[in-house]
Amino acid sequence: MCGIIGCTGRCEAAEVLTKGLRRLEYRGYDSAGVAVVDGDSMAIVKRAGRVDSIEPYVRALRGSTGIAHTRWATHGKVTDENAHPHASCDGRIAVVHNGIIENYRELREELEARGHRFRSDTDSEVIAHMLEDALRSFEDPLQALLAVCRELRGSYAFLAAGPALGDALLAARKDSPLVVGLAKGAVYASSDVYAFIEWTDDAYFLENGSVAVLRPGEVRAALLDGTPLEVRPVKVAFEMSEPDAGAYAHHTFREIMEQPEVVARALAPRPEVDEAARAISEASQVFAVGAGTSYHAALVARYVFADVAGLDVQPVLASEHGLFLRWMGPGSVVLAISQSGETADVLEAVRAAKSRGARIISVVNVPHSSLEREGDLSVNVRAGPEVGVAATKSFTAQLATLSMIALRMAGRPLPDPERARRLVSEALRLEPAARELGNRLKGSDDLYLVGRGVHYPLALEGALKVKELAYVHAEGLAAGELKHGTLAMIEDGTPVVLINPGDDTHSDTASNGEEMKARGAFIIGISDVESDLYDVHLRIPEARGVELPIVEAIPLQLLAYHLALARGAEIDRPRNLAKSVTVK
Ligand code: G6P
Repeated sequence: MCGIIGCTGRCEAAEVLTKGLRRLEYRGYDSAGVAVVDGDSMAIVKRAGRVDSIEPYVRALRGSTGIAHTRWATHGKVTDENAHPHASCDGRIAVVHNGIIENYRELREELEARGHRFRSDTDSEVIAHMLEDALRSFEDPLQALLAVCRELRGSYAFLAAGPALGDALLAARKDSPLVVGLAKGAVYASSDVYAFIEWTDDAYFLENGSVAVLRPGEVRAALLDGTPLEVRPVKVAFEMSEPDAGAYAHHTFREIMEQPEVVARALAPRPEVDEAARAISEASQVFAVGAGTSYHAALVARYVFADVAGLDVQPVLASEHGLFLRWMGPGSVVLAISQSGETADVLEAVRAAKSRGARIISVVNVPHSSLEREGDLSVNVRAGPEVGVAATKSFTAQLATLSMIALRMAGRPLPDPERARRLVSEALRLEPAARELGNRLKGSDDLYLVGRGVHYPLALEGALKVKELAYVHAEGLAAGELKHGTLAMIEDGTPVVLINPGDDTHSDTASNGEEMKARGAFIIGISDVESDLYDVHLRIPEARGVELPIVEAIPLQLLAYHLALARGAEIDRPRNLAKSVTVK
């Protein structure tokens, strides 16, 4: 699971590749590497660590053809050797790969038997060695590429470059994204448009199961069976704002603080919302698929659609979609929720549902992402680029967008974006209180977050934020479930976040809070209602209906952020995680 970029032609490879890698780091940041071709020689710089660690060396490379990679380890530890690019034995071809080659063990054995020497433990290195052989057998690089791809099982998007190819790049994709950028005298290719948008906005999205030979000013593409493809670029529009934390210490913090704007923007009426509402009202069954935070948005959607539109929406964890496929047939609608639009499990669920006749409505943040393009209808949540790995503003934008669809479907008035902006701004004033709490709780090993009804998925989301940002064990629970086990964990001083606003869940949740307090719990109440139950009160403004989960998300995010800060955790790029998980 990784990000790849390449360029050739009228361009400075070192500059294009380092800038591109920075924009691709959301896909993984264990290691980074670059190969730049200069005539008959090729320089490879690669290292375990961030793009920053290789940048000074890359800047010194001269050449206009190159490929680069940012890694999230799947096969092989995080080491310099396992960083991409991987070169063939003769050093005349190098490869960067995103995906998993499932049959790499067999392929590696065959290659080793033929005398190839491997330098890494990765699955990806087989491609470099296979291309070395194939380029000797086929004069046409496209045929060599096709021959290699026919041997590969699994998922891949890869790029190859090297003196063996002159100024050409080889590109191939199956079940992992790859897009080509066409400019005057230059060609680019990357996992996403965002990585090369500075250089061109003419993009050719490679078809799934296809290959291409890219030369400056010329792209030859074919399906895996050899059928030639017509290359038709499309114009892409993309918000160019540089990922810069600005005056804030972290992207994550900036993204949390941006939410008044984000929520107001997401609540603006738009035709896609009406179309989605229409499609859902005609559906026999509705599913909401997502992973991580986006799955929590799907869980919230279940409560919101039931409440607002009397509709039963089945939330589905993307990686567990198999069970639900039997019902995802003609007449059904799948709401596919994803910030990145590239999460492998979500894409797999969507493709399987689509092939069975379900209608796909994607609810995405990243424009031109695979999910946005593959959906029958797409509603953008308009959160803008989100850099921090932990999803924050995209979550509230998802909640706002899904609520609008539900309200439209029920023919009910939409929330006032200005009022929502104000409520979120007011909730953000809890920042100093969250900071104090973060400092107070920094030595805690466990944190429990509890809610009932629509506040239960918020408890799950709060726990996820605490785990990924602060590396503190946290558990989100349905308040009513406490006494069925977890209450045994509560002892003197155990911190518990009680999501307890003044709606119809208030008194039952408060009773559960009392039960915990009687056993020594330290209760942090998130509520618009005063109560002496709370040892610390994070007082949210009085919100109603669909506004409430959005407003509650704010103190949860602020608490997780400040807990992470107090513990000295790395905030924007937590260990072992990636923003976009492009492997199963
Ligand atoms: C990764 C990210 C999470 C995100 C999840 C789903 O695990 O670290 O923050 O919630 O993927 O991503 P998506 O882009 O599909 O919303």
